Amino acid sequence: MRNILTVDGPSGVGKGTVARAVAQKMGWHLLDSGAIYRAFALAANSRGINTENEQALAKLAQELDLDFINDADNDLVSVYLDGKDVSNKIREEKTGDMASRVASIGVVREALLKRQRAFAREPGLVADGRDMGTKVFINAKHKVYLTASAEERASRRLKQLQQLGSEGIMSRILADVVARDERDSSREHSPLVPAKDALIIDTTDLSIDEVVTKVMTLVEA
Ligand code: DC
Repeated sequence: MRNILTVDGPSGVGKGTVARAVAQKMGWHLLDSGAIYRAFALAANSRGINTENEQALAKLAQELDLDFINDADNDLVSVYLDGKDVSNKIREEKTGDMASRVASIGVVREALLKRQRAFAREPGLVADGRDMGTKVFINAKHKVYLTASAEERASRRLKQLQQLGSEGIMSRILADVVARDERDSSREHSPLVPAKDALIIDTTDLSIDEVVTKVMTLVEA
């Protein structure tokens, strides 16, 4: 299936929001690949499997009992791990950090490939992550890579936390963003890089609507 739009980029750049908006406008399916890595990290953590035990991690990745339940408009996706709703838990900062660590392990990435590719169904798919255009859906018809300065991404994250009623310290959030960028970009397997055929959009000074409009122009061209 070639009706695929890949949306890659670093953490906090707004990929999820943009991907969901475009999927809704196009009536396409949505893959949040980060949610798979996050749920996988939770599963490994709850079973006490550490990052050195690659064999156990690969086995877990193959057997992972994971379900995504979408509401009618693709608006709200609930994530079930081992039959339990982990939709909120996977969004915690510490889960993101664990996900970034297990995501650097090659056998884990290989074992999760098939699960991600199974999301490609008619009439189309919007897939967001780090390596959607460079590895998972290399033949996708449309590819975008979103970027924004680390400061801008940290400030967006701070606002998000405040809207959720939580506190955040800008310097700490910025340090986390920079550390996660470094880990995601410097890893050996599927590092975070733009696909050669991706449209690169710097979102630092753009609103979500402006980014969505640019992406829609590409998809509808
Ligand atoms: O997009 P996110 O913040 O939900 O992703 C969490 C972590 O999962 C991210 O730091 C790196 C990893 N990840 C990945 O390695 N490859 C993907 N396609 C998606 C996420």
